[in-house]
Amino acid sequence: MSDPVTYRRAAPGSQPPLDSPGYGSTAKRHPKHALVRVPHTLTETSAPRFDPARYKPQADMSQVNGKGALGERIIVGGRITDEDGRPQRGVMVEVWQANASGRYHHPRDQHDAPLDPNFEGRARIFTDEDGRYSFVSIKPGAYPWRNHWNAWRPIHIHFGLHGAGFAQRMITQMYFPGDPLLELDPIFHATPDKAARERLVSKFDLDLTKPEWALGYRFDMVLRGREATPFEKA
Ligand SMILES: [Fe+2]
Repeated sequence: MSDPVTYRRAAPGSQPPLDSPGYGSTAKRHPKHALVRVPHTLTETSAPRFDPARYKPQADMSQVNGKGALGERIIVGGRITDEDGRPQRGVMVEVWQANASGRYHHPRDQHDAPLDPNFEGRARIFTDEDGRYSFVSIKPGAYPWRNHWNAWRPIHIHFGLHGAGFAQRMITQMYFPGDPLLELDPIFHATPDKAARERLVSKFDLDLTKPEWALGYRFDMVLRGREATPFEKA
């Protein structure tokens, strides 16, 4: 079998550089040597794949054992495509986030904000035949971090995606429209190109909104290519 057509490389400025001085910890972990360019052969474009029979989908973060979490319920959904607009089917979408108070359900998070016994903050879904996904959650809260004085992260949801193959692996963060913290956030601004950066901001969507129940936010993602969604960091 011949190798498939390769993905186009990202446009300059559309992905965060390895070292983002404003985002302090990148200096501690970015590679010091030039990266090795791996060709997109059949291996990189077709494996690994993840099976929902083995990795059980869980699309509702708004409750635990039938008990509702505190905060504003939301629906997040969108479509995952490649750079040519083709739907990406069977993409495993992993999601994690802080609770409504801005605290993660994790022992290392010691932020002085309450935990919620009915919110664990993780989900896993798979895209359908049209590349669509959706899940229910609680709108996360902002939280402080120690990157610089009085630093606060804009509210965000973390995404980890496994697409058609390892070349489509992506880890990123979805933001919310109108958040005043966005303009101050070094992680958001690590992507130099404004248009690329704006692709990380979800859009309020009345069609996704369920009457008398929850607001909907749309977040489409593009895996690989010139229009690719930016990684959260290099
Ligand atoms: Fe976070």
